This record gives sequence, C-alpha cells and structure tokens, in this order.
Amino acid sequence: MATGVAQQTKFLLDESQLPRRWYNIAADLPTAPPPVLHPGTGQPVGPDDLAPLFPMALIQQEVSEEPEIVIPDEVLSILSLWRPTPLYRAHRLEQALGTRSRIFYKYEGVSPAGSHKPNTAVAQAFYNKQEGRTRLSTETGAGQWGSALSFACRLLGLECKVYMVRISYEQKPSRRSMIQAWGAEIVPSPSTDTAAGRAVLEEHPDSPGSLGIAISEAVEDAAGREDTAYSLGSVLNHVLLHQTVIGQEAIAQMEAAEASPDVVIGCVGGGSNFAGLAFPFLREKIAGREIDVLACEPAACPTLTRGVFAYDFGDTSQLTPLVAMHTLGHDFVPAPIHAGGLRYHGVAPLISQLVRDGLVRAEAYRQNDVFESALAFAGSEGILPAPEAAHAVHGAVTTAKAADEAGEAKTILFNLSGHGHFDMSAYDRYLAGTLEDVALDEEEMARALRAIEGLPTPA
Ligand SMILES: Cc1ncc(COP(=O)(O)O)c(C=O)c1O
Repeated sequence: MATGVAQQTKFLLDESQLPRRWYNIAADLPTAPPPVLHPGTGQPVGPDDLAPLFPMALIQQEVSEEPEIVIPDEVLSILSLWRPTPLYRAHRLEQALGTRSRIFYKYEGVSPAGSHKPNTAVAQAFYNKQEGRTRLSTETGAGQWGSALSFACRLLGLECKVYMVRISYEQKPSRRSMIQAWGAEIVPSPSTDTAAGRAVLEEHPDSPGSLGIAISEAVEDAAGREDTAYSLGSVLNHVLLHQTVIGQEAIAQMEAAEASPDVVIGCVGGGSNFAGLAFPFLREKIAGREIDVLACEPAACPTLTRGVFAYDFGDTSQLTPLVAMHTLGHDFVPAPIHAGGLRYHGVAPLISQLVRDGLVRAEAYRQNDVFESALAFAGSEGILPAPEAAHAVHGAVTTAKAADEAGEAKTILFNLSGHGHFDMSAYDRYLAGTLEDVALDEEEMARALRAIEGLPTPA
C-alpha cells in the first residue's frame, strides 16, 4: 500500500489537541448584526430580559465581542469522550465520482448522540448547573438535539424535558427511546402540556408540528418554572460559538493533510454545524484568504435562498425576542421532509449577516437529489449520513462535478454533521422510490411572509 499524506484516509488529533477556547466570530465581523429587540418595547434586549430563560454565563457569551472564550475543564473532560473527531479524505467517493477534486469531511457522527449537537449541549448543561438550575426544557426536530441534551443532562445530573416535533416523533421512535434512555421526559409537539401547544391543536388537531411550535412550548415551560432554564440547540450566538471546536480541529487536520480548502460546506437548519466548521475558516477569509463558503438548505424550507432579511420571532407563538435574520415567517410550517433538523423558518443572525456581507453563499436542494448523493457517499465511504448532513454531502458532490465541468480541481471540505442510523425509514422510502420531492408551497410562503410585515425593519 502506498504511503504519505496524499494516500492517507484519516487525519486524527490527539486528545491533548482538543481546542481549549471557542472562537467568537462576533469579534471579526465586518458588519455587526442589528440588535435583538424586545417584542414589547421594540428596544434592544438587555441581559435582564434574558435572565429568566438562560444562565448569565451564556447571556454574556451571547453578547461577547471577545475573539476567544476559554472552555471550562469539566466541559473539556466530557467532550474528550469523543473529541477530537476524525477528518477523512474521501478517496473512495472521489473515485466513484471520477472527480479531479479532493474531498475531505469532518465527521461529527462519532459523538454519543450521533451528531455535532452534544458540543453545545454539554456546555449549556454545565453553565446551567453552575448557576443552580436543576431542569432544562427544549425542543427537538429530528431528535438529534433532544438526544444530545438528554445525554448532557444525564452526565451533569440535570432533569430534562423535550418537546419533539410530532412528525419526527412518529417517524423516529428510536430517537424517542434514546432520549428516554438518558432519562429525559419527552412529549410530541404540539402537546397539551402548554398553552402554546393547546392553541395550535385547537386550530389544527393534525398539525405535524414544526420547530417554531416546539420552541414556543419549551420557552413557555421554562418561563413558568424557577428551577428550569430553556436550552436551544442552534441559532443563538453562544450555540454557534460552542460548535467552533469543529472548525478549529479541522484547520489542524487539514494542515496535517497538507491541504487547504478552496470550498467549505455545511448544511444549515438553524446554522450551528455550519458555523462550527465554517467560522474558524471565515476568520481566515475575513483576514484576506480566498475561500468559498457554501451553506446548503432544503428546497422545501429555503430560508437563505428565498427568505427575506427581516426582524422576526424565533418561534410560532411570538414568545422569543425579535431577531434580524433571513426568515420565511415565524408561522411558516415547512413540508414534512425527512431532514427534520432543517425544517426551521429562520437562521442564525450571525449567518444571515455573513450572507448579506457576501462572505457566505447558499444553495437549496431537492430531497431526492440529496438522498442520491447520500447513497453514493454510503456506497463509497460506508457511512450513512443523517438526512440533514446529506445536504452537505450533496453540496460537496455538486461542487466537485461543477469543478470538473469547468476543468478545475478543487479542495473541498464539508461537515458530515451526523449519522443517519435513526433515519432508516427515509432511506427505505428513497429506495422504494416513494420519497416525494415536496415542492415549496409558494402560497403558504407568501402568507407567512405577509404575516411579519408589521414587525420592525432592520436598518
Ligand atoms: C445531523 C444534523 N445536522 C444538521 C442539523 C441542523 O442543525 P444546525 O443547522 O443547527 O446544525 C441537525 C438538526 O437537528 C442535525 O441533526
């Protein structure tokens, strides 16, 4: 067998190389995002407004402009159960595609919950515990975030209540069991446990649910109890911050591979895995290096490619502060595609700002194309990607093909944010030829966008 980095498949770091700090892109952004507004007063929110929902350490991280924030030892100790994660050179996928490009991927599916989500779950559970909270409430789409938080709560000794989007609750019973195995309580959302859930059920008894609805329920739960804080698995600045261990490791691993990416790719739901990989590379891009940074989203929920940049609520019931972001409207209910974690009407404000500044570009893909690439990947690299992560796989495949057509060879790096072992019903349907390419409901999108017309406009 030939040796040398050009032939090497895995690039591994030693545990001692686990990043000791998170990277905060807020310190380097060319344009600061518009302030988050209090929905009642229309004024920027202050730490006191957020204190009922989040511990002060996370609120401080949310507004911090320090470029780096130290990771507490106890968090590092838990992260070291699976971090640093491997970076692979996808030799076999390259061969299957017959591409001249080099494709690398960072694999986050080796975490106990099977995705990147525990990177922030552990940090959030840690800070909540430190400030005396004993219980966390949260929403989950595909179940990846709910399982990550129930895992983190279990290890740190906190109670956890998960509101799981009903369509995923039904499609993914094993995710539900996993959440319960780590000791959390779980209900399908919309549920009868909250006023927000009951209101939706009254109007739409068969509602498949959405992340926006589930967030409303989890926020209401936390706001109503002293012992409980709310925990969000994406979108917020501090969540994206916690994920930057991914990109920092990847920079060291790409150096070991003697390669430097021309294109960095991630799928985007709320934006946390994309940010985790891309932000440390964007630090270099902002400093002058040329890198194409691509965000991949579903055509059925095309927040970055078709949404408007506007102030909107993060949830359906308008309980959250108003954030300036690309949005499809807070009561837009996306079609029930299998990438449940990408069915969110908004996106992280930091990513919206980077798109507006031209530092990140976005593409939207159809479900069947995404699964075709996922199976090409599984058939060459072996790993069955989560349907969300498969959007990034498809982004990499499309980029490699486009480079070949242009007669170029690129170095492509993407984030394989999780495995799809609990998503096999989606694969079954694809293989049976019954997976639908649910078209975007244009009328529903227009209606949901009209519904936010009266909200403040970002400067
Ligand atoms: C494996 C996987 N990738 C990506 C996502 C999308 O979330 P985010 O955009 O915050 O990374 C999810 C969300 O559930 C997920 O489970």
